[in-house]
Amino acid sequence: MSGRPNRNSKSEEHTKTIVVLPGDGIGPEVTSAAVSLLKDCAAETGRHFEFVEMPFGGNAIDRCGRPLPAETLQACSGADAVLLGAVGGPKWDGLPLDRRPESGLLALRRELGLFVNLRPIRVLTSLLGVSALRPELARGVDIEIVRELAGGIYFGEHSTEGANGSARATDVESYTAQEIERVALFAFDRATRRTNKLVSVDKANVLASSVLWRRVVTQLSANYPTVRLSHLYVDNTSLQLVVAPRQFDVIVTSNMFGDILSDGAAGVAGSLGLIPSMSWGLGPSLYEPIHGSAPSLAGRDVACPIGAISSAAMMLRESFGMELEAAAIESAVDRVLESGARTPDLATPRSTVVGCSGFAGRARESLHEQFSLHERYGWGV
Ligand code: NAD
Ligand code: IPM
Ligand code: MN
Repeated sequence: MSGRPNRNSKSEEHTKTIVVLPGDGIGPEVTSAAVSLLKDCAAETGRHFEFVEMPFGGNAIDRCGRPLPAETLQACSGADAVLLGAVGGPKWDGLPLDRRPESGLLALRRELGLFVNLRPIRVLTSLLGVSALRPELARGVDIEIVRELAGGIYFGEHSTEGANGSARATDVESYTAQEIERVALFAFDRATRRTNKLVSVDKANVLASSVLWRRVVTQLSANYPTVRLSHLYVDNTSLQLVVAPRQFDVIVTSNMFGDILSDGAAGVAGSLGLIPSMSWGLGPSLYEPIHGSAPSLAGRDVACPIGAISSAAMMLRESFGMELEAAAIESAVDRVLESGARTPDLATPRSTVVGCSGFAGRARESLHEQFSLHERYGWGV
């Protein structure tokens, strides 16, 4: 293919509406970096993106009294895709659980029917030196964690009774066969597109919900004869992820296990700031870095924007089928890292330390260079 990608395709010219939820803490800084690259991409390729920014999380509590205002949910429901920064922070930590910013995120996932969260963990060669593991262990790691997102203990009953010494708090972990099956189907499908290797993670030696999880996943495997399915307990998985992470390809697990294992696996990649995600299901997909609002970094222009930028690239690929643009953004990020420019979380003694906006600026320059080259020589170069 040569020239600008799909420029003349009428059907692809239709405007994509992207709802942007910057959120709290470093959320606005990292989403602004991601949006700037999406805008550049659109300008270079003739795509049309409309960005609609809405209040969400702590800032929505301050402005509208609720973390997920009705207008925000309505905008997200009608969007082609949603891009989120992060929510939460000390300012709202004293609120009851069901009124905190984080409860807005759970409500958004539930309302949009997003029951899968896909978290890719890749170790880039340029970042081998910042992995928490020795390079010989970290090299080549390329894992997809498929986290169940709409069930389990997050959505079970939460209650507190009594007070002081006689207080009791309860959270219920519960899964239906259907909830397990739909996320497992996604994971099997993902595995068939990669190396046909799937590890299902549970705690079936203790939890009834895990016994059901293992049974349903095992039954489904009959429909995927090419996929080599194995089962691991979650405690052993956390060990295996740091002693031999290359053994994994696709991992499927419950809501809470996926939350915990993916932050740990981010340390193998080098920083929590690096990891993007896609939340997928019945409604428009939601793309967000897996990190939180990092209160100690907020407002200092030091946060790593790569997780957010890569989430935007995932959006282009997974929701819009814009593979060339997605790959161009990812390659722009790689090139900046290879040049030695790093946010502080990724810096080594030989790095040029840049801020969140500085990193984004360099990625934009690299993206522009790529498009100019492609314009001149075609997409084969
Ligand atoms: P966190 O992810 O904000 O931070 C964990 C650690 O990673 C901190 O050391 C932080 O400085 C670092 N870090 C995170 N993002 C980074 C980035 N982009 N660049 C460089 N370093 C980065 O988790 P936390 O401190 O446990 O939680 C802070 C707040 O965020 C809480 O209110 C929590 O509920 C919320 N949270 C929100 C989301 C979300 O919105 N999806 C996810 C996780 C946590
Ligand atoms: C994440 C976060 C959220 C989760 C919180 C903020 C509700 O930790 O997206 O990983 O646990 O799902
Ligand atoms: Mn988390």
